Amino acid sequence: MDKEKLIIFDTTLRDGEQSPGASMTQEEKVRIARALERMRVDVIEAGFPMASEGDFASVQAVARAVKDSTICGLARALDKDIARAGEAIKPANSGRIHTFIATSPIHMQMKLRMSPDQVVEQAVKAVKLARQYTDNVEFSPEDAGRSEHDFLCRIIEAVIDAGAGTINIPDTVGYNLPQQFGALIGELIARVPNADKAVFSVHCHNDLGLAVANSLSAVMNGARQVECTINGLGERAGNASLEEVVMAIETRQDLFACNTTLDTTQIVPCSRLVSSITGFAVQPNKAIVGANAFAHESGIHQDGVLKNRETYEIMRAEDVGWSANRMVLGKHSGRNAFRSRLQELDIVFETEEALNEAFARFKELADKKHEIYDDDLQALVTQAQSSTVDERIKLVSLKVCSETGETPESAVTLSYDSEESSASASGGGPVDATFKAIEKIVNSETELLLYSVNAITSGTDSQGEVTVRLDKGGRIVNGQGADTDIVIASAKAYLNALNKLHEPIERAHPQV
Ligand code: KIV
Ligand code: ZN
Repeated sequence: MDKEKLIIFDTTLRDGEQSPGASMTQEEKVRIARALERMRVDVIEAGFPMASEGDFASVQAVARAVKDSTICGLARALDKDIARAGEAIKPANSGRIHTFIATSPIHMQMKLRMSPDQVVEQAVKAVKLARQYTDNVEFSPEDAGRSEHDFLCRIIEAVIDAGAGTINIPDTVGYNLPQQFGALIGELIARVPNADKAVFSVHCHNDLGLAVANSLSAVMNGARQVECTINGLGERAGNASLEEVVMAIETRQDLFACNTTLDTTQIVPCSRLVSSITGFAVQPNKAIVGANAFAHESGIHQDGVLKNRETYEIMRAEDVGWSANRMVLGKHSGRNAFRSRLQELDIVFETEEALNEAFARFKELADKKHEIYDDDLQALVTQAQSSTVDERIKLVSLKVCSETGETPESAVTLSYDSEESSASASGGGPVDATFKAIEKIVNSETELLLYSVNAITSGTDSQGEVTVRLDKGGRIVNGQGADTDIVIASAKAYLNALNKLHEPIERAHPQV
C-alpha cells in the first residue's frame, strides 16, 4: 500500500473510563483490551496507574494479557506518576508512557500556578525520566487547543529533544472548530524545527460535537495518530469515536493520504462489548454501530437498495461487523462447545469453578431461549464477572403482579449480609414497584439517575439488558442485569449498582 499508516490509539480504558459511572473492573478491562487487540488497535491506553492500586493492577494485567498492541500508561509530568506507569507497563511486549502537563494560560496560572518556564522544565524532566523506563514516550501539552502557538512550538521542540517520539495535541475542552484545529496541527508540524523526529497525534473531546471532525481535519493536516474511544465514551461529552474516525478514513480513501490497519469487522462486536460492560447504551441512530445505522425505512430507499445497494449505502454493514453476531449455541450444546466458543471470543476463565458457574448460567438461559448468540454469551460473562464484586445483597425471589386496570405490585425477598428480608410495594409499573420494594429493605439513600433497557438480540425471547445508574452523595455507579424477564433483569441491575456502592473506591483523577 502506498499510503502512510495512521496509528489508532484507543483510550476507552482510560479517558473512556472517566465518563461518570463507567468504571470497569480489572477483568472487564482485560476483556475489552483483548477485543481491541483482535481489532488490531495499535496502542491501548490501559489506564492511569497513579490513580489507585486498582488502576495500577489493571494496567499491569492488560500489559500481561495483550501481546500485539502497545500498552500505554498515563502519567502526569511528576516523578512518582512516571515511576508508577513505568512499573505498570513492564510486563508488556511493547510499552509506552504518556506524560502530560497543561500549557494553556488559564491552566498554567489557575490550576498549576506555574510559569511557562517552569512548565517547560518539568515537561522535559518528565520525558527524560520516562525514557529511562521505555523508548516509547508520548507527551501531551494539555489544553493545547487553548494554548498560545508560540509556546506550544517551544515546549514541543524541547520535549522532542528530550526523547518524546509522539506529540499528542489535545483539544481537552472540545473548544476548537475543524478548520482551526487542522490549521494548528499543520502549523506545529511546519514550525517546530525537529517535528520530523516525532509522530503528531490528536486527542479531541466532543463538547461541541466536533471531536471526529476535528480529528479528521488534523489527519488531513499531517497528524498520524488519532486518540479515540469505542462508542465515543469519555470525559464529559466524550472523545472522538474510534468507529467513526476509522470508517470515515476507510470510506473516503480518495481524500486521505493515510489509512489504518484495523480489522474493521471487529467494530460492532467491540462496541457491543463496551456498551454491555459499561452500561452505556448506544443510541439507535449512532453512526456505524447504532441499531439503525444500516436500516432503511423509507420505501424509496428500500427500493433503491434492492436495485443497487450503493444507491443509499456508502459502507457495507458486514465490513463493520454487523453479521458477526452468529447463532452459536443452544439447549443441547455441551460444556466443550460452550468453552470453545468462549475461547474464540477470547474469553478465558481463570478457574474451572468460574467456567462451571458460567456454564450453569448458560444452561439456565438456554432453557428459556432457543438460540444463544455471541452477544448473549458476552452478557452472560459480564453478569458472571460483575457478580464477583462482593455481593452483599442478593436477589432470593421476586414476584410481580401486573394486570390491566390494577396497580402493579411487587414482592421481593433479598439476602442482605446473609440475612433474608422481604418487602412488598406497589408502583407505576412492575419495575417501579420492584425498586420500591427493594428500597424498603435496603434504604440506600441513592438517587436513580438512569434506567434503560436494551434488547440484546432480536426476537421476543431476547434477553433484556438493563442499566441502572445510581448517585449516592456524588458517587455515581452503573449496575447491569440481563434476563429474558426484564423485571428480573431490572432487579438484578439495581442490586448490582447497590453492591458496587459497597466497594471502597479511592481514585485520583488525572486532570486534578
Ligand atoms: O483531554 C486531555 O487533555 C487528556 C490528556 C491527559 C491527554 O485526556
Ligand atoms: Zn481527554
